[in-house]
Amino acid sequence: MPISVEPLAKSIAAEVSGADLGAALSEGDFNAVHDAFLEHSVLVFRGRSQTPALTPDRHIALTRRFGEAEIHMLDQFHHADHPEILILSNGKDSGGKPLGLEDAGRYWHTDVSYTHRPSMASFLYAHDVPPEGGDTVFASTRAAYDALSADWKARLQGLRAVHGLNRITAPKFTDEQFAALDYVEHPLVRTHPETRRKAIYTGAFALSVAGLPENESRGILEFLADHCAKPEFQYRHAWRAHDLVMWDNRCVVHHATGFDRKHLRHMHRTTVAGGVPV
Ligand SMILES: [Fe+2]
Repeated sequence: MPISVEPLAKSIAAEVSGADLGAALSEGDFNAVHDAFLEHSVLVFRGRSQTPALTPDRHIALTRRFGEAEIHMLDQFHHADHPEILILSNGKDSGGKPLGLEDAGRYWHTDVSYTHRPSMASFLYAHDVPPEGGDTVFASTRAAYDALSADWKARLQGLRAVHGLNRITAPKFTDEQFAALDYVEHPLVRTHPETRRKAIYTGAFALSVAGLPENESRGILEFLADHCAKPEFQYRHAWRAHDLVMWDNRCVVHHATGFDRKHLRHMHRTTVAGGVPV
């Protein structure tokens, strides 16, 4: 079955059909998926409830087609047999121990931008989803950049943001994990290494604009946060079990929405290593 790609929103996201994620992608299918990834930034592979869940091995193998599979520093939430998989879950085992990282990403962010080499792409697979809520909302920071006025584009030129975690954005980090982190600087506007398109690069981990007075710094970051969150740049994914969504952290911000905690939301996440943003 040939791969087909159907856009899901005006500026971001497409649904990919005809790719069997339970097997290795052929070279032709991989190229089609990769092209769609660069064009649409977020790709949705709808789950098929009648087929078995994607195994951790297949999930990691798919991830590795795109680059080096990373191992998240929150090792307390790794899959027991596959450290490349970070478990996001509100479930608990029979002893009451959390099965995974709960409350991940409830604010707009781009994955691990608080590191020197943030993840290039993320692959999130749904095992259990609540009947409603627990969506993931994505916004194209590439479309958001394109829509900026010429004055704003000029103002942002050459500015860099300081990224880091705090106890609000990183409540589950242990003291040791927290201490291992440093602040890093990234450009506020980055150029995608493959498409050469520019994108705003901010999110909740961007704490300030380097070298600017606090008022001005806060004003810029708040303006960009509001601008990137405009509906015309968004796609909202309502999960079904066995959906896999992959996104390009170089030009996308995302956040998860709330849901009734009496239901289980249990996801597996992998990421591909990225380069230093420029
Ligand atoms: Fe995230």
